[in-house]
Amino acid sequence: MNQASGGDSVKYDHFGYLAFLFSLATVISFFVYIVAVYPGVDLQENIKEVATSTPSQPSEAEKIDLSQITEPWKPNPALVVHGKALYAQQCAMCHGSEGKGDGAAGAGLNPKPRNLVTGPWKLGGGYIGLFKALTEGIPGSSMSSYKHLSVVDRWALVQFIDSITQAKVNVSASELEAFARAAK
Ligand code: HEC
Repeated sequence: MNQASGGDSVKYDHFGYLAFLFSLATVISFFVYIVAVYPGVDLQENIKEVATSTPSQPSEAEKIDLSQITEPWKPNPALVVHGKALYAQQCAMCHGSEGKGDGAAGAGLNPKPRNLVTGPWKLGGGYIGLFKALTEGIPGSSMSSYKHLSVVDRWALVQFIDSITQAKVNVSASELEAFARAAK
């Protein structure tokens, strides 16, 4: 019994000594590694990156990367700009360059192209109603479906119309979110 416990304590002291040497060696090799081997972080490079990206930020809003916009139903000035350009190409001939329903191609139509500034709306207006009108068109009229345009393009048109119309219709954020997530 005595002998066994004596032997244990000798073994224990020996192990403690080894452990001490081992941790000393670990600390020293870690130190050598940090000083001599580890390449470190190049702070200079980070500073340069920040310095060059800051001045280019204002122009970022102008050149729109549509693929970066994941929630195009959220108000976004860049989308209004994009929608305005699409409107000029695809809608102004009927709805007029200012959206007053007085485009040359709409003159003889019955029903006449809607005045988008004053409304009213057959499909409810607002972000949801306008998106529906573009996606489905209005049966029995020359307002056809624009479903061939991407979802982002249609939201851009909605955002543009909403920016020029006086007949605004507000939709709750949660209702819009639910509609938009399901919209195709
Ligand atoms: C060929 C002519 C024509 C073109 C092109 C056209 N529209 Fe129309 N649009 C109409 C007519 C006509 C109506 C009215 C339909 C009615 O009163 O039943 C209408 C109605 C609308 C409405 C009213 C929806 C509602 O709920 O009452 C919106 C919004 C609209 N157009 C947006 C657009 C946009 C955006 C474009 C371009 C992508 C476009 N339209 C292109 C003829 C046109």
